[in-house]
Amino acid sequence: MTEAHLDEVVRIEALSFYEPWSHACVQSSLNKDGCFVALDSAGAVVGYVIFSYIFDEGELLRIAVHPLHKRKGIASLLIRQILNIAKARKIKHWFLEVRASNSPAIRLYEKFGFTVMGRRKSYYKGPHGKEDAITMHLNGN
Ligand code: COA
Repeated sequence: MTEAHLDEVVRIEALSFYEPWSHACVQSSLNKDGCFVALDSAGAVVGYVIFSYIFDEGELLRIAVHPLHKRKGIASLLIRQILNIAKARKIKHWFLEVRASNSPAIRLYEKFGFTVMGRRKSYYKGPHGKEDAITMHLNGN
């Protein structure tokens, strides 16, 4: 991901999340976290992933695919990419949080071997009030 992709990423954020990250928030991640985009053949952003890492721990902070491009394996491609980087950087543990109702994302993570670690009560705001977060872990090596 580069500065040139930010507007498109923020547009996909707005289409994908109840509490989307602002332009400033994605930009700040670009300066300090790992950020990758998936591009179509015309160079348009169709998906992205944002993760942070410190020592041997990584956290998947954000992943989204444009609604018109879902179920084409794009998120899987992005996750494979960060897991490859993880091996090179010797990241041993991956963590993430996901809304308890987000079964597409939970299935995606399970497909890559993430397992449920715990639950944070009423962690997210949602259209129907508060919602729990599921925390997940993957042993990266
Ligand atoms: N229902 C059930 N399982 C689903 C699913 C759905 N709607 N979408 C993805 N999956 C699971 C399946 O196991 C799928 O494998 P399969 O196609 O072989 O069955 C696997 O995830 C991989 O799918 P893929 O095509 O790589 O995912 P995607 O590119 O469609 O992206 C999300 C998946 C979750 C990133 C996408 O739906 C999205 O952007 N959602 C909104 C943002 C979000 O919720 N992000 C995650 C929380 S941070």
